[in-house]
Amino acid sequence: MDQAEKKQQVANAAAEMVESGIKLGVGSGSTVNLFIDAMARRGRAPAALVASSRETERRLRVAGFQVSELGDVGDLDLYVDGADEANKNFQLVKGGGGALTREKIVAAASRRFVCIIDDSKWVAVLGQFPLPVEVIPMAQSYVARQMVRQRGQPILRKGFVTDNGNVILDVHSLAIENPVELETRINQIAGVVTVGLFAQRPADVILMAGDSGIKRLERR
Ligand code: A5P
Repeated sequence: MDQAEKKQQVANAAAEMVESGIKLGVGSGSTVNLFIDAMARRGRAPAALVASSRETERRLRVAGFQVSELGDVGDLDLYVDGADEANKNFQLVKGGGGALTREKIVAAASRRFVCIIDDSKWVAVLGQFPLPVEVIPMAQSYVARQMVRQRGQPILRKGFVTDNGNVILDVHSLAIENPVELETRINQIAGVVTVGLFAQRPADVILMAGDSGIKRLERR
């Protein structure tokens, strides 16, 4: 099974978990786009839908859903989103699509976070995928210097502006042995809006598509 088929399978499996009447947060990325279409095909009708990016909001509307603001809805029952990397502690690297800040907000406001990945995203140590850090534009070179002090190699994502008007530094060459500690440390750097480490608020469930089908992992 190729990666596209795995993404489709895990998107279908997640759509099965959406019960009518719930308040649902919807992440961003290619796997989530398939999830949106699968939800529409199955006629699932959440009571409220909150999007984690402008692109997801647009796709939800095209698929026929109404989209609400988080501030009008309050806490959400379920958040479904992909990831760029995941480890056995359900900690994630996210932000490959640049939507990390809104994704982190929606994840924080959700009782249950179901992460949908194919098995290429499963790693022993996070950090092979460059770690995205959203930064206030004027702090770009200051934050980049701090990343070098953390033994990372920051590269500005060229020509990219986030939904919040900021820039992204993709930090290469980090072997993230202690994700909670690194997330805390990077969060404290002046000018950092969000780091794409989801360790303090990891996923609750990982649905992972592999050659032998979907694996469901539940955090205790
Ligand atoms: C978006 O900003 C990311 O956090 C995505 O969740 C991540 O990049 C996964 O994307 P794909 O589903 O496209 O692999």
